[in-house]
Amino acid sequence: MHEPRAHWSSNIGLVLAATGSAIGLGNLWKFPFITFENDGGAFVLVYLMCIAAVGLPIMMAELLIGRKTQKSVVGALKEAIGPGWGIVGLWGVLCGFILLSYYTVIAGWSLFYFARTVQWTLGGFPAGFSTGDLFDSQVSNAGLQLTLSLAFSAATVGVVYFGVQKGIERVARLFLPLLFGILVLMLVSALRMDGAGEALSFIFRPNFAELEPASVLEALGHSFFTLSLGMGAMVTYGSYIDRSQSIVKASAMIVVLDTLIALTATVIMFSVIFSVAGMREQVGASTVGMLFISLPELFFTEVPFGSVLGPLFYVLVALAALTSTISLLEVVASYVIDEHDIDRHKATILCGGAVFVFTIFAAISFSGAPFFSTLAIFDGKTGWFETADHFVSNWMLPTGGLAITLAAGWFMTREQTTAELVDGTEPAWFRYGVWRLFIRYVAPAAVGAIVVAVLFFGRDFS
Ligand code: TRP
Repeated sequence: MHEPRAHWSSNIGLVLAATGSAIGLGNLWKFPFITFENDGGAFVLVYLMCIAAVGLPIMMAELLIGRKTQKSVVGALKEAIGPGWGIVGLWGVLCGFILLSYYTVIAGWSLFYFARTVQWTLGGFPAGFSTGDLFDSQVSNAGLQLTLSLAFSAATVGVVYFGVQKGIERVARLFLPLLFGILVLMLVSALRMDGAGEALSFIFRPNFAELEPASVLEALGHSFFTLSLGMGAMVTYGSYIDRSQSIVKASAMIVVLDTLIALTATVIMFSVIFSVAGMREQVGASTVGMLFISLPELFFTEVPFGSVLGPLFYVLVALAALTSTISLLEVVASYVIDEHDIDRHKATILCGGAVFVFTIFAAISFSGAPFFSTLAIFDGKTGWFETADHFVSNWMLPTGGLAITLAAGWFMTREQTTAELVDGTEPAWFRYGVWRLFIRYVAPAAVGAIVVAVLFFGRDFS
């Protein structure tokens, strides 16, 4: 017996759920850091161009394949194009599986920092305290890492268990407005700081002399990651779209919201960091530094209303991460549900449990565990966590993304894609011909460039 396929209750439900998937650690953790590393301005502009020219057309492609077939990624590609394409779908499911397994570990850190900042709000920030030492000790404490990531995995399973409307959509409807609210509060506070002006000009004033070719590919790679593209997450969410809902409108809203949040988060963080002498140099040292070493201290020493905003900020990180982890688990679980005929409750627990085994490997990889801490397949990447992140961001997402652009642009016919995009629900500004041009030529060329750079020139974009 098959139940009828679940659907989002409305266009807003879809937009919020998909935006929740897109907004995550990529926006709060990766984007500010790579913007910093690439000297802002010009990099941000290139990133915006990648989002518009590559991200948006692929977002539409993924959602349309999902809506057309009403199937999750493996079944969808098989039906939309041909049986052989099931492999591409499986590649996506595998990618979701691996990404989820380590994403949960960083998400777990937000729980730890929430607890810590609450403690400091109540008891005061200890004088002379080193947040660098705190980070090192929490990350190398295997027991703590396992507890945090288990808590986060359990929350993820708990949401996906209740399905599309009662689980995923409900959480997105509740949490996303909250997330927007917290960000606005933080923005107001950050803009009053001394560093705000410098932050704004760093982010928005382009200086093309500083832009390196590798930065362009990095911007492109990140536009994939941040929009949750290249692995069928949006195909899966697309499969829950009712035929009366517009793919074009939804895609545009998701992309705009994701970009706004990434920029807002960056303005907030840089305003804080640039307000303190010497902080710029300190932050440059590591990816995790900004979010988990500099900011915790700055909240309590520099930011107006920081003792309230500090804990709120880590709630924000946790919420953003949770709406992404549920989407990742949904990719894996919906495949098992659709293709192996297992019911949602069983599938969710089964998949959540299987992923958690790999989460354990990532969680202990900072604590000097044999093999998991020392594994070195890729140059400069040590340990399970770094290896998995490198493999997903550099190898899996771009190759998956390339396959999806080719699928929508070259393997599906003009009639098939027109039927989904130009169906009376599309907004007046939409031009099908422009989309087709981008999906057939611009997007594959751009994504192809990443694949070539990674595979043949050993470039690193994570
Ligand atoms: N977009 C998420 C972020 O910015 C990360 C991500 C990549 C993701 N691919 C995904 C999340 C697929 C959910 C599903 O953090």
